[in-house]
Amino acid sequence: MQIAIDVNGRLGDAQTASVPVLDRGFLFGEGVYETLRTYHRQPFLLDRHLARLRTSAERIALEPPLDDTAFAARIESTMRAVDAPGERSIRLLLTRGTGGLGYDLANCPPPTVVIIVRPHPETPADVVADGIGIVQSSVMRNHPQALSPRIKSNNLLNNALAMQEAHRAGAAEALMCNHRGELAECAQSNFFLVCGGAALTPPVEAGILEGVTRNFVFEVGASAGVPVREETLRPADLATADELFVTSTTREVLAVTRVDRHPVGDGRPGPVTRALAGEFRRLAREMSASVADALD
Ligand SMILES: Cc1ncc(COP(=O)(O)O)c(C=O)c1O
Repeated sequence: MQIAIDVNGRLGDAQTASVPVLDRGFLFGEGVYETLRTYHRQPFLLDRHLARLRTSAERIALEPPLDDTAFAARIESTMRAVDAPGERSIRLLLTRGTGGLGYDLANCPPPTVVIIVRPHPETPADVVADGIGIVQSSVMRNHPQALSPRIKSNNLLNNALAMQEAHRAGAAEALMCNHRGELAECAQSNFFLVCGGAALTPPVEAGILEGVTRNFVFEVGASAGVPVREETLRPADLATADELFVTSTTREVLAVTRVDRHPVGDGRPGPVTRALAGEFRRLAREMSASVADALD
């Protein structure tokens, strides 16, 4: 099949897989999730994604019903059901489960575990070569004391509303500010600004998702000889930046070459972004190849 979906250990496809309408993930968006991708058909940085899933789950008082070995086994069996060439995208969702219509945690049903595996849509070569356009969104990133962006929540309305703005403007991402007016992150990725040869990204305290790719870029920078550090960034910094890029599991390290239709620098992906993107891909493939070899 092209898309394989496992719901609580039952394998189905896009037509057959379902969760009950009384699932609190559906009713309230009450759940957490992870998006992973494979290199050499190995889920990349699986341990870090599962650790973040547990942190997100803990923040909403949800107990994951599986240990890491069981999650890995279920991902593996769902992956085996997809028979298409290339790499895989994996979405792992955990919801409060199916109960009544209230918020009460007493008599909580067991959580629902959903794993969706499909062929990974690689970023087209021309998008990598040209970079993407983004908009500065009028939608503020969730206030950390309202719904902390550190929780990778199934409730994605904040992100969806920002992306509607981006799509209306023909852009690929929406850059959001926090409640203090500082740059925070994009609707689907973390944000970096290059200045004087260093890659700068807002601190976690700014109210962002602590991206697995973002965190890995600190290691990529060390390997590529590029300083990478956290710094408070403001909208005015966009005008003076040498380069901009975003990071996410699906986008890897991707140049931003237009903000609100204005070119960044000369409008082409810059040398620091290209160095980090190249080193990221090299490390991701090398690390995954050694995992694949060890399993052979
Ligand atoms: C709001 C937001 N920030 C950042 C990211 C990037 O996170 P990661 O690198 O773990 O994929 C995502 C990915 O989905 C996201 O939704």
